[in-house]
Amino acid sequence: MKALITGAAKRIGHHLTNHLASKGFDVILHVNHSISEGEELLSELRNKYPDQVFKIVQCDLAEWRTVAAQFKQAFEKCGLPDLIIHNASFYLNKSIGVTQEEDMERMMGIHLFSPMMIDKVFREQGGEGNIITILDTAIKTNQSTHGMYLLSKKSLADYTQMIAREWAPAIRANGIAPGPVLPPDGKDAAYFNNVVKNTPLQSQVALSSISDSVEFILKNKNMTGQIIYCDSGQHLT
Ligand SMILES: NC(=O)c1ccc[n+]([C@@H]2O[C@H](COP(=O)([O-])OP(=O)(O)OC[C@H]3O[C@@H](n4cnc5c(N)ncnc54)[C@H](OP(=O)(O)O)[C@@H]3O)[C@@H](O)[C@H]2O)c1
Repeated sequence: MKALITGAAKRIGHHLTNHLASKGFDVILHVNHSISEGEELLSELRNKYPDQVFKIVQCDLAEWRTVAAQFKQAFEKCGLPDLIIHNASFYLNKSIGVTQEEDMERMMGIHLFSPMMIDKVFREQGGEGNIITILDTAIKTNQSTHGMYLLSKKSLADYTQMIAREWAPAIRANGIAPGPVLPPDGKDAAYFNNVVKNTPLQSQVALSSISDSVEFILKNKNMTGQIIYCDSGQHLT
């Protein structure tokens, strides 16, 4: 079994990479800027799991027009995965009114167009298995503080369900919509604790709950086109 995880070097991606490696997966780690962190993780994994194969792919997903060619090459070099997790993200803190053209292109590039390009190349090369998109519980809302981020994540959720139809039975496509797992860049502990306190379960989402959701999707062979809100109930508020 082989997985591709985008944004694999840090935070949730780092956790999911470690988790899948511990379950016996070979992993293609995608990174953008975090090349040294990715290489560090790669060498840890190679030491810990010497019988498994770990490779690293660097690519800026905002430059979505170049992504198909880069992943075509990556799949030829590393082999096709059985599982793709679209995790990479940039939490752009801009409301709709101040959003500029380059923000629109960047957000749609990272969160929708690049996942589409990667998946299209994967399918064209005969790829089958699971595609998991990492969404955000806020897709249930119309909060516009991170307007273009949220619009692109909402599109990614619709895309997940569209490919679940189009590519069945070869592909199962499901999404995970996390609530507060880790504080976003630039926000302090007080801000994050307040978000956590206002979830119905008043609890931070554990990294292990995200990997448990991945496990549930992988094990449940009848499930496709679902979005799991792993968010301490935040989508209910
Ligand atoms: N953290 C939370 O509490 C939370 C809550 C709701 C939803 N989520 C979702 O869960 C996922 C993971 O969250 P996170 O907080 O761990 O994410 P993150 O740290 O904000 O970003 C993950 C990775 O995305 C990569 N990335 C950003 N811009 C990129 C670009 N232009 N091209 C390629 N890669 C790019 C970065 O890779 P490099 O470091 O290599 O540049 C980064 O390490 C995201 O999809 C996020 O929307 C998280």
